[in-house]
This record gives sequence, structure tokens and C-alpha cells, in this order.
Amino acid sequence: MSEPLGITVTNHVLSMQHRHEGARGAFTHLLNEIIMAAKIISSEVNKAGLVDILGSTGGQNIQGETVKKLDEFSNNLMIDRLYRSGHVAVLASEEDADPIEPPRGVQTGEYVVLFDPLDGSSNIDANVSIGTIFSILRKCSKGPEYQMEDLLQPGLKQVAAGYVLYGSSTMMVYTTGNGVSGFTLDPSVGEFLLSHPEIKIPQRGKIVSANMGYWDYWDENLKNYFRYLRTVTDTKPVYSLRYIGSLVADFHRNLLYGGVFLYPADSKDPKKPYGKLRLLYECNPMGMICEQAGGLASTGDGRVLEVEPSDLHQRVPLIIGSPQDVEEAVAFINGQRKE
Ligand code: AHG
Ligand code: MN
Ligand code: MN
Repeated sequence: MSEPLGITVTNHVLSMQHRHEGARGAFTHLLNEIIMAAKIISSEVNKAGLVDILGSTGGQNIQGETVKKLDEFSNNLMIDRLYRSGHVAVLASEEDADPIEPPRGVQTGEYVVLFDPLDGSSNIDANVSIGTIFSILRKCSKGPEYQMEDLLQPGLKQVAAGYVLYGSSTMMVYTTGNGVSGFTLDPSVGEFLLSHPEIKIPQRGKIVSANMGYWDYWDENLKNYFRYLRTVTDTKPVYSLRYIGSLVADFHRNLLYGGVFLYPADSKDPKKPYGKLRLLYECNPMGMICEQAGGLASTGDGRVLEVEPSDLHQRVPLIIGSPQDVEEAVAFINGQRKE
């Protein structure tokens, strides 16, 4: 038999399922619903700029509703498709204050999914890359009903995590704990095809990504790290600053090229003592992907994946990327290094 022209993400999930003891069709079904949601969001994101031209009435989406704000649309779509799988015990979204209860009469299952339906949404109107992030866990409580403890599990318990990047192409990157694979959506056939097998992050990069606008809110240790990065020495290059303001896009670039992304504690800003990013919807899934690609994800205090969550919308500082860069950043942040 000749080689298939492309391995779809569904082919890939099925082949991984054979390797994983205990993995059954339920997981594939669940992931397929996320894939379908991603394709629909991608198509809506591509049309977003046309809404003003077509007018809101010309912009009927596939649900037959008038066009809603893209983040609300993406959130509703993820909820709808995930519950439709019949394998979900409970959902939580960055957009909803409380757990999203299963709709009455829907069949429930053993998986718990936490997601950020549209990350980087401030970039939508400027046609800049945005994304969707998801984290999949197994229900850990006994009994048919979900409990809060099912949602508040540390990142180490994730069985899968991934993101979709709506960029110059749409890409899906995911892990089930066995490495990281990337797929690019071929719009002509409507499938995500394996384009980046076994992604490995470089040990060290030359890119640093952080919102430097918050400089005055940072403590001296953190400032020392940035002073060090911009100093020319024989042992390291001067780092390039790259910051989009969409975690998915910033992380994805650094995953491929190497480097470090920081959303640190803005220590002197009373509104952001733990930074901005959410542990359950952003840091844990990105942390699992990064570690699976050979990188590190730290809060500055320890491994992101080991944080015991106490709140659904808890924020933690995030330092993520190439292992040598993250180790160096953490050493500065903790004051072990000054220069
Ligand atoms: P969201 O659009 O889901 O609220 O997330 C935006 C996040 C993240 O994508 C990005 O890294 C960060 O906000 C940027 O924040 P600043 O504007 O404070 O730099
Ligand atoms: Mn986000
Ligand atoms: Mn969001």
C-alpha cells in the first residue's frame, strides 16, 4: 500500500489510543468534538473582518443565529459540542464564573474539560493571531454527580492538553502525555494534517516575551533578569523581544524557535500580585505541552503542574519555555542570581 497523503489529527488520536492502556473510544470522541469546534471557530475567525461589511444580519453563523461576539460564540460552541459527546462530567470556562453544569437530560461521562475559548481576544479586531486552549482531566470523585474537586485537580493529573492557533494558518497542537504533535488545517479538505510530528523545544532560545510596559510594577530581581538579557556578553546573545499579547501565539512561536515567555507577578500592582494568567485554563495546559516538548513551566516558586488549585479562576505567575531560559529566569526572580 502506498503512503497516505496526510495523517489527520483523528488518525493520530486513534493510533495513540492503541498505545495507551485504558484509553477508549470515549476520549477520541471527545477530542473529535474539540476538533470540530476548532474548525468552526477558525472559519468564524476568518470571517470576523467581514462582519462590518456584511452587517450583522448578513453574518448568519452556522447555528442560524446572528453573529455574536466571537468569544461568546466560541464559548457556547465549545460547551455545546463537548456536552454533545456524552463523555463529559462537567466543564469550566474562563468566560464563566461557575462550573458549567451538564444540561438537563444530557448523557454525562468520565471527563472534565477546562478551556479558554478565545485567548488573546483583544487582538481580534486587528486581525492578529488568537487561540483556543483546553485541558482534559478524568473525574476523580465517586458518584454520578460532579464535585468541585473534579475541577480543582493539579495540572499533573491532566490526561491531555492542547491549543488551536488561528494564525496565518490554523494549527492544533496537543499532547496526551506522550510527546507533542502539531497539525495544520488544510482548508481545501477541511482536515487538520500532521505537519509538526514530535515537537521539541530548543534547550535555549534568543527570544524573551513579556509585557515590558509593566516595568515599574516589577521588583528588582525581575528587573535584573531583563537587564542581564539585554547586556552583551561572550556567553550569551542579546535577546530579541517578541510579544503579541496572545498567549497561544507567543507560546507557539517560542515552542518552535526557543525562548521564554513570562507573565510574572506584577509585585507592585495591587491588582496583579499573581500576574494575570489563569492556572486552570491557561497555565496548566500550556505547562503540560511545554514539559512534554522538553521545556519547563514555573510559577517562580515551583512547577506549575504541581500547584494545588484552590479556586476555579486562580491566577499564577507563569515563566514558560526553553529549559535553560526558564531555569535562568527563575534563578533571577528568586534573587539567586543578580547578573
Ligand atoms: P484572554 O484574551 O483569554 O483574556 O487572555 C489574554 C491574555 C493572554 O493571551 C496574554 O498573554 C495576556 O492576556 C496579555 O496581557 P497583557 O495585555 O496584560 O500583556
Ligand atoms: Mn486567555
Ligand atoms: Mn479568553
